Amino acid sequence: MAVTEKQIMDALRQVKDPELGRDVITLGMIKDLTVSGGKVSLTLELTTPACPVRETFEQDLKTALAAVPGVTEIELKTTAQVRSVAAFGSQSIAGVSNVIAIASGKGGVGKSTVSVNLAVALARDGARVGLMDADIYGPNIPLMMGLTQLPALSGDKIVPAENFGVKVMSMGFLVKPDEAIIWRGPMLHGAISKFLKEVVWGELDYLLVDLPPGTGDVQLSLSQVIAMSGALIVTTPQDVALMDVRKSITMFEKVKVPLLGVVENMSSFICPHCNKATDIFDKGGGVRAAEQMKIPFLGEIPLLLQVREGSDSGHPVVLTHPDSPASQAFVQIARRLAARVSVLAAAAPAADPVWKT
Ligand SMILES: Nc1ncnc2c1ncn2[C@@H]1O[C@H](COP(=O)(O)OP(=O)(O)OP(=O)(O)O)[C@@H](O)[C@H]1O
Ligand SMILES: [Mg+2]
Repeated sequence: MAVTEKQIMDALRQVKDPELGRDVITLGMIKDLTVSGGKVSLTLELTTPACPVRETFEQDLKTALAAVPGVTEIELKTTAQVRSVAAFGSQSIAGVSNVIAIASGKGGVGKSTVSVNLAVALARDGARVGLMDADIYGPNIPLMMGLTQLPALSGDKIVPAENFGVKVMSMGFLVKPDEAIIWRGPMLHGAISKFLKEVVWGELDYLLVDLPPGTGDVQLSLSQVIAMSGALIVTTPQDVALMDVRKSITMFEKVKVPLLGVVENMSSFICPHCNKATDIFDKGGGVRAAEQMKIPFLGEIPLLLQVREGSDSGHPVVLTHPDSPASQAFVQIARRLAARVSVLAAAAPAADPVWKT
């Protein structure tokens, strides 16, 4: 009995993206579908290479197809095509699909460390990633990314520096380490604009922007200059930090930047000698804040010596100690963040052909 196209389509319509909650046909995730005798060939196009549920998803798809009478062989390829949250508007930086701000209410909570490790984790999953250091008062991304080489010039454009598969731009490249910069409003606005528009970022799935702490001019400038896909809020667990988190969240709501999630850094200290966890900065504050503000909680990162060493030495912990609890947390958070972007982007599903032409 020959397998019909309708049977295959019906089977595929049963398979839902676990994150997006809709079926793979509606979401436009099935490409190059062919049926020949009992053999079905198809490509699953994920909405991010950092998909947190890739294996279960592939398995669900195979199970659904295998249940169709007459199907004897399934050839499944998996690829990824990151969609832009701004798809229904315009891409504000040519070639960049999603700009994600990494913010915090308070200084010193580990924003830059989180930005660096998430960027590297996303790149390791196969995404095209840029990292912009918008902390123009204390730019330390070049150090944390082990970059000593300056960005190059190409005509009147700046080519970002690159390490660990991530393209990087920072004010830290342009000023001497011990020099203080005094920024005035319009100048600052200009610098942010330049970094975004006069840097040749190339094709990027995600451009992470490490913001200075607080709710000041840089945050506002950024939201005026470009359409951001969303903001990720970093906090530490204690209540003092949480008060500032609320301020930060309210600011992003005011400027209509979607909130992608909250992460809690320095969640508990893991002793390198006995592996015992101690909650130095209290416990669970990030989850509470996320619940109160109705924003997804994306995970917690323990306080770990190797994280600090990685930041200081320019070798991010996700690369030097991939099996450490902190690295595993970074990888998971990176995937959840990517999935959140996919969820927002899915508001405008693609209508490309399903069958191979
Ligand atoms: N999970 C962690 N475990 C151990 N050390 C950490 C962790 N997260 C951050 N740190 C360390 O804490 C310090 C502050 O982190 P970081 O510079 O990333 O914070 P920040 O929020 O960007 O600060 P600022 O507000 O000054 O920009 C750094 O020395 C960093 O290495
Ligand atoms: Mg910082």
